Amino acid sequence: MNFRIVVIVFSLIGTNLPVKAEDICNVTAYEDIQNAVSNCSTIVLKDVEIPANTTLELHLNNNTELIFDGRLTHVPVDLIGYLVTIYGNGLTITGTKDHVLDGMGPQHWNGKNETIIMRPNLLMFKVTNTTIKNLNILNCANHCTHISDSSDVIVSNIFIDNREGYPGVAPVGKFAANTDGIGISGSTEIYISDVVVFNQDDCVAITKGQNIFVENLFCNGSHGLSLSVGGGDVSNVIFKDSILTQPRQAIHLKTHNDGTDGHIYNILYENILFLDAF
Ligand SMILES: *[C@@H]1O[C@H](CO)[C@@H](O)[C@H](O)[C@H]1NC(C)=O
Ligand SMILES: *[C@@H]1O[C@H](CO)[C@@H](O)[C@H](O)[C@H]1NC(C)=O
Ligand SMILES: *[C@@H]1O[C@H](CO)[C@@H](O)[C@H](O)[C@H]1NC(C)=O
Ligand SMILES: *[C@@H]1O[C@H](CO)[C@@H](O)[C@H](O)[C@H]1NC(C)=O
Ligand SMILES: *[C@@H]1O[C@H](CO)[C@@H](O)[C@H](O)[C@H]1NC(C)=O
Ligand SMILES: *[C@@H]1O[C@H](CO)[C@@H](O)[C@H](O)[C@H]1NC(C)=O
Ligand SMILES: *[C@@H]1O[C@H](CO)[C@@H](O)[C@H](O)[C@H]1NC(C)=O
Repeated sequence: MNFRIVVIVFSLIGTNLPVKAEDICNVTAYEDIQNAVSNCSTIVLKDVEIPANTTLELHLNNNTELIFDGRLTHVPVDLIGYLVTIYGNGLTITGTKDHVLDGMGPQHWNGKNETIIMRPNLLMFKVTNTTIKNLNILNCANHCTHISDSSDVIVSNIFIDNREGYPGVAPVGKFAANTDGIGISGSTEIYISDVVVFNQDDCVAITKGQNIFVENLFCNGSHGLSLSVGGGDVSNVIFKDSILTQPRQAIHLKTHNDGTDGHIYNILYENILFLDAF
């Protein structure tokens, strides 16, 4: 009986599952990316430079694994929108140990909280049934990451380091603003854990969505774990076991008069520690 099973397994590996060259594709040149998106089940983007005024749109096939390696950069000109937008189902999005997604903040920050923001946001996810993990994000010019119109997403081990943008660290008139860590809108069944954020705006900001669980965050210098309505309700949200050091706000329910209509309900903040709020 056991012998039969072993024979079957060997015959599958030997004949039916050949490893194709295009299964794993390492890409560095921007112009090679879309071919890899069409043809490869694992895509390694290494040291990619996004051209000026361009959003890298990745419409990935189901169950693709996307791995960032080296340093992601862009030609720093003014851009409204995102540098990278990722769409797909069943994805795994991750990074190698030493990779950096570099928002090149110092080349965009101007110390201003602009009305029309010309500084590019870094990463947008529009995904379902997807795992996002092990990402190192540096110096977002504007918002760092946003999860929009998504469901069944697990986010873990994200390091967002905008320390170079703090007033007193960045040159006068060149500090960072609006560098939200993780934004969530129009999304459901989102689980976020083990995230470190050094930034200059909301650590997490939810504007529309439900069934969102956030735990084990460390935020420094942020505007808190924030809820506000932007075109809909925010409900069934739990923030747990997190620490905010030197935050401007911590538990942050925004009631701006420029907000839109909607309800915020069934919210739990549990075991949230604030230190040195100012
Ligand atoms: C592809 O990239 C991965 C991750 O950086 C690396 O381990 C692997 O050696 C690369 N393969 C080739 C063929 O360059
Ligand atoms: C990959 O996809 C492109 C565009 O769909 C196609 O032209 C090309 O032949 C495919 N194969 C490889 C190995 O690039
Ligand atoms: C980028 O877009 C802006 C605004 O549309 C434009 O002024 C600028 O010339 C563009 N730069 C490049 C390098 O394409
Ligand atoms: C991709 O996944 C979606 C959602 O599960 C499914 O509806 C669709 O049929 C899948 N596409 C392919 C080509 O398998
Ligand atoms: C979710 O994605 C995983 C692989 O990433 C796949 O095995 C599973 O079937 C998918 N589930 C649904 C409901 O699409
Ligand atoms: C900038 O404006 C946004 C939106 O009005 C607000 O959330 C944020 O706190 C402001 N940031 C600073 C540094 O004033
Ligand atoms: C935390 O943020 C404040 C600014 O809000 C900054 O001055 C301080 O250096 C940061 N702490 C660490 C450990 O980076």
